Amino acid sequence: MNGNKNGFDKELTITLKCFFGFEETLKEELVEYGYKEVEILNRAVQIKGKWKDVYFLNLHSRCSIAILVEITSFRIKSENDLFNRASKIKWSEYFDVKKTFAVKGAIYSDLFTNTHYPYLLVKDAIVDHFRDLTGDRPDIEIKRPQVLIDLYISNTEVTISVNTSGNPLFQRGYRNASGEAPINEVVAASLIRMSGWDRKTTLLDPFCGSGTLLIEGALLASGIPSNIERQHYAFKNFKNFDQKLWDEIYDNATRIVRELPCRFIGSDISDEMVLKSRRNLREFSFGRFIEISGKPFNEVEKTDEPLFIISNPPYGQRLELDEELYSEIGTWLKHEIKEGTACIISSSEEGFKSIGLKHSKKVKVYNGNLDCSFRSYELFEGKRRDTIS
Ligand SMILES: C[S@@+](CC[C@H](N)C(=O)[O-])C[C@H]1O[C@@H](n2cnc3c(N)ncnc32)[C@H](O)[C@@H]1O
Repeated sequence: MNGNKNGFDKELTITLKCFFGFEETLKEELVEYGYKEVEILNRAVQIKGKWKDVYFLNLHSRCSIAILVEITSFRIKSENDLFNRASKIKWSEYFDVKKTFAVKGAIYSDLFTNTHYPYLLVKDAIVDHFRDLTGDRPDIEIKRPQVLIDLYISNTEVTISVNTSGNPLFQRGYRNASGEAPINEVVAASLIRMSGWDRKTTLLDPFCGSGTLLIEGALLASGIPSNIERQHYAFKNFKNFDQKLWDEIYDNATRIVRELPCRFIGSDISDEMVLKSRRNLREFSFGRFIEISGKPFNEVEKTDEPLFIISNPPYGQRLELDEELYSEIGTWLKHEIKEGTACIISSSEEGFKSIGLKHSKKVKVYNGNLDCSFRSYELFEGKRRDTIS
């Protein structure tokens, strides 16, 4: 956009949004992909790049929720300033009048008494631009717009961006079946990276539900992009969309696939969840190598090999039930797991206390709106630390 070859040579400011507490994790992911200068923001990181990076990261980033490309940033003193500056943007260079659009984002500013109003001002600026130019106006579609404009206002500073992802990137396209409390796919991928799993120790999720943690673990270990099954990306609706470049990036992604480097084991007490996880796993070539069984966690087949356990047990049940279950988890970890690491995400503080093991790491995270904690425990036979977590 703007200039030669639809702006493909232009340096872009790219903001990758993540969930609370995962900024460093997302930075680590980008560094692994070779991005050297990654600035950490609040629930986001920022890099400089080109459109090829935007396509690549939409496909490959497992820890991003959305990828924004900045159109412009400026300071304002009044509501009018916002409308005037938004009216100067040549919106028709970004998308055509036949596309549906929406303006969303975040507003933290005293300049506006009504926090919906800034979105309306930008929407009006867009509609006026097209009407003046073509006599026609693009339709607004709040739920599934083809083009999503991001408006961010912090006091007097305004940033207007295009959201190149559209629907959030946790809509991977592989989870056709889920239970009552599935873990968000981006949270699952971010926890796996944060956990420090070496991608070669056997991965076990004894409360696997629909299999999200196992799937994200297997995708990471085999080098398959988490979004390989996803079809929708808002950038495909932009005027400058380069189908050839996208095809190249997508085809390259299918060439780097490795075989699974270790065993992946899942189990769940519910037969229905076992069926659902198997159905989700069928989406992938590695699916048949992932061992899923229907049994309670403490009946999972014993093994002498080191295990990396990552799981989100049920939580938010009645207090006594949480305490009883987590106390059983603690006993199982202490007496049945010979060697390894266990990483648990839960919102149940009482549950964590009932595990009765000293954690080596503790991080505050959210699963959706749920305030959770993610704790790691090092497990060695004969070297149990029975201190409260
Ligand atoms: C919070 S959900 C896990 C969701 C999963 N991470 C996903 O993405 O779908 C907890 C799961 O634990 C299972 N569960 C409950 N009690 C269990 C037990 N004693 N042993 C094994 N699984 C159990 C439930 O059936 C449920 O699927």
